[in-house]
Amino acid sequence: MYKIIIQKSENLRGAVEVGGSKNAVLPLMAATLLTEEPCIISGVPNLKDVDVMCRLLGSFGAVVDVDQAAAQIRVDASNIVSSVAPPELVKAMRASIVSMGPLLARTGKAGIPLPGGCAIGDRPIDLHIKGFIALGADVEMVGDENDDGFVTACAARMRGAEMYLDFASVGATENIMMAAALAEGTTIIENPAQEPEIVDLANFLNKMGARIRGAGTDVIRIEGVSRLHGAEHSVIPDRIEAGTFMLAAAITRSSVLVGNMLPNHVMPITAKLRECGVLIKEEGTGLRVDATRGVLRATDIKTLPYPGFPTDIQPQFMAFLTTVPGPSNVIETVFENRFMHIEELNRMNAGIIEAGRRAILKGGAALRGADVRATDLRAGAALVLAGLAAEGTTEVTDVFHIDRGYDNLVGKLAELGARIKRVRRSES
Ligand code: EPZ
Repeated sequence: MYKIIIQKSENLRGAVEVGGSKNAVLPLMAATLLTEEPCIISGVPNLKDVDVMCRLLGSFGAVVDVDQAAAQIRVDASNIVSSVAPPELVKAMRASIVSMGPLLARTGKAGIPLPGGCAIGDRPIDLHIKGFIALGADVEMVGDENDDGFVTACAARMRGAEMYLDFASVGATENIMMAAALAEGTTIIENPAQEPEIVDLANFLNKMGARIRGAGTDVIRIEGVSRLHGAEHSVIPDRIEAGTFMLAAAITRSSVLVGNMLPNHVMPITAKLRECGVLIKEEGTGLRVDATRGVLRATDIKTLPYPGFPTDIQPQFMAFLTTVPGPSNVIETVFENRFMHIEELNRMNAGIIEAGRRAILKGGAALRGADVRATDLRAGAALVLAGLAAEGTTEVTDVFHIDRGYDNLVGKLAELGARIKRVRRSES
């Protein structure tokens, strides 16, 4: 077991390179199940969740070759021997659910233990199921999230359908898009997720021979085809990792170049940081984030589906806002329990008041180093950022959460001059 030890770090400098997107690469890997021809995905980040997805694909019979040096994965799913996701892998990574759509489309059946909730919310899959049923699948759910529930779906060949998503669910949009790609006829998804990761998946599916239009807009149209072929694809940069480094610059009042990223994917984060007085402009392969000038001011944030403010940056932005003079509000509308980091930040003298889906920050906090625990992936990142600004020493434990979604966060921050290290918990 490891922990991360952080000292107050001012004046970070230099440039940091963003890696491939976790939330894009996972559905891309699942999509390789849709063809019996090999696929190659490059720009793959070195993450625990990617390892789990490799094992999941292997459990279905796919041959997965990982070339870590080349950041490349080759998947040959010509021989599917199982359509049932192993419980231990689903428990390790709830995004396993996006293997259901491709398996159903490719083999006519799919089974998966209910992923169940996690720290940030119940994480139901009703919209995924609504989509499969609309496409003509028979879906049966046994039990529920609390007692090893299991859901199976089967359909000889799915038929295109029109459907509306009550919530612009990312996973449900991905699952339905992949299932509909091989359905007979046309599928229309209204109110789909519009995240960049949806567009990246649609681009990969179209390279495989799918006929998807409208990804990234509020209506996606899919013309089903009879088969898909192998393809090669490079993952988009991780906009959440990029946003995390933008906030590392902001919380330490530094000027840092966040490179190898797509500025339009972080538009909501850029807009809100500019409202706080942080100077941001395009430079090289990314954005120059300069928080060295003048006194920053507070702003409010409210999370929404893309292109609204991303929920995955809410904890990190909250940590930053605690250090900015003036009151601010943080409203979380996407997940029902994504404030687990408040208790931990308050151990650092953040002075945050939680009121349901709203967090009230008085601002101008003099953060103090403390022993804190990462409760989930992005909460862990927020505590690391807070440690960079806090007087004294901060120790973050349960860093396995952070390893799920960040490739060498400690090393990249240290490269920028942060006083941070990762040690075994037995060491001090
Ligand atoms: C994806 O999760 C991301 N994960 C999450 O990132 C991200 O926070 C989320 O999208 C929202 O942007 C991956 O892409 C692997 P949703 P997903 O379905 O697909 C409700 C991170 O930190 N909902 O859009 O699970 C659900 O309860 C992770 O990288 C239903 O009600 O998110 C939640 O309140 C965390 N019924 C909301 O929608 C459903 O059938 C958003 O869920 C599905 C979802």
